[in-house]
Amino acid sequence: MTRVSFVGAGPGDPELLTLKAVDRLAHADVVLFDDLSAGPVLRHVRAGADLVAVGKRAGRPSPSQAHVSALLVEHALSGARVVRLKAGDPGIFGRLEEEITALRTAGVAFEIIPGISAAQAAAAAAAIPLTRRAEARRVQFVTGHDATGGLPEQRNMAALADSDATTVVFMPKRTFPALADDLAAHGLPGDTPALLAEAVGHPEQRLTRTSIAALAEQLRAGVSDATALILYGPLAAEA
Ligand SMILES: C[S@@+](CC[C@H](N)C(=O)[O-])C[C@H]1O[C@@H](n2cnc3c(N)ncnc32)[C@H](O)[C@@H]1O
Repeated sequence: MTRVSFVGAGPGDPELLTLKAVDRLAHADVVLFDDLSAGPVLRHVRAGADLVAVGKRAGRPSPSQAHVSALLVEHALSGARVVRLKAGDPGIFGRLEEEITALRTAGVAFEIIPGISAAQAAAAAAAIPLTRRAEARRVQFVTGHDATGGLPEQRNMAALADSDATTVVFMPKRTFPALADDLAAHGLPGDTPALLAEAVGHPEQRLTRTSIAALAEQLRAGVSDATALILYGPLAAEA
């Protein structure tokens, strides 16, 4: 019997939840959620269920991954129906694998319910496609930082500087200026369109259509706390 449901919370707008997500939230005994999956989505949790915050946001104290995995196993083995709610799609930069491994080791059955990633939601909010025949034949999702918070050292610059791809950078704001320098050094023009998508699916959503060079300049001058991703490539500036 499935004990744990990994549920994609989408970007924050509860109308972007899947029907399965709503069902699992309504029937859970315990819901473990991250900061980014908090908010109106939690209104679908049944009254009386335990809500456990296991948030992780850069720069703030948060439970270790090992602790979160252990908590998940403990609740599941107690016989509770557990939902592990993760922002966007659980399989995209969501540390899903560590938690699945812990459940497998403990012999706990689980399911994964996909969600709408912030990347798809940002493109939809900006009314742009992620692909276009001939011009943007590839989409790549990359992370702007590694475990230390810096720009990942192993970067596939040929792929990142591909002018025929749509690139979505998650967790990008602090490292994007350095990435932009690297992109320029690898031949991607600074006037390549870029979209800064902040708080997508939330009332304070903000979309800034700009270019790689101008955005790097802006972020060098300072970054806000808003959750954001950056999308760049030939389609990024269109509306
Ligand atoms: C740990 S990753 C999780 C990504 C998530 N699994 C997904 O599919 O969207 C967190 C990063 O996703 C992006 N993100 C998540 N929700 C967002 C939102 N509502 N608006 C903009 N970016 C968001 C940000 O880059 C944030 O730093």
